Amino acid sequence: MMYSDVIKLMEERHSVRKYTARRIDGNIRQTLQECADECNKASLLNIQLCFDEPKAFDTPISHYGSFSNVNNYIALVGKKTKDVYEKCGYYGEKLVFKAQELGLNTCWVALTYSKKKVGCVVGQDESLIAVIALGYGAEQGKPHKCKSLEKVMRVDENAEWFIRGVKAAMLAPTAVNQQKFFLEKQGNAVKATAGLGFYTKLDLGIIKYHFEIAAGKENFVWK
Ligand SMILES: Cc1cc2nc3c(=O)[nH]c(=O)nc-3n(C[C@H](O)[C@H](O)[C@H](O)COP(=O)(O)O)c2cc1C
Repeated sequence: MMYSDVIKLMEERHSVRKYTARRIDGNIRQTLQECADECNKASLLNIQLCFDEPKAFDTPISHYGSFSNVNNYIALVGKKTKDVYEKCGYYGEKLVFKAQELGLNTCWVALTYSKKKVGCVVGQDESLIAVIALGYGAEQGKPHKCKSLEKVMRVDENAEWFIRGVKAAMLAPTAVNQQKFFLEKQGNAVKATAGLGFYTKLDLGIIKYHFEIAAGKENFVWK
């Protein structure tokens, strides 16, 4: 995909909490499932797609959190390893990007849903890390406030690909829009660090996915 198309999709994506009753049809389900299968194969996570399942968001905290009509979601499940949060962030956002490409809306949700009512299988050595609401939005959401670029990066010498990557990272969803990450360029290496706070490791995986597809994997290595 061309850089301009990547950025366009990222600019169009906003968290959407209100959905219409429109069902997700079979072809789109299958495309998403194939993407989830690829993610699970690469990451050894156990990401599950839940369709036509309204219970997880039919709970006071969800309504209070202004969610309505959430009938589909992606459950991010994985073995309790040290890197499970970052991996769920990275592959969850890959699915968010795919969903956006397919004309769907999404919202990352770590808190305002009912963990008990989620219709997925969680093995004994696994945890449910977060879910991503999925469906046709009753609205498209709105752009989030951004920190200034200087606050989230350090660069040794200017490189176009690096700035492209940082700008894409700024468009990524982060928990309570905290944007607590830092990207540092050292030659062709990029170091990404998570700040202190809730879910910053999930955020780190998310922003690394954005950075990678905008900067181009061929231009750098993660340090
Ligand atoms: C890891 C993570 C957890 C989140 N948890 C919730 C949540 O529990 N409830 C909610 O309403 N939004 C949640 N969000 C959505 C964020 O508030 C939202 O992504 C952020 O404000 C930026 O807005 P945007 O996604 O429209 O760009 C979460 C986002 C992330 C990345």
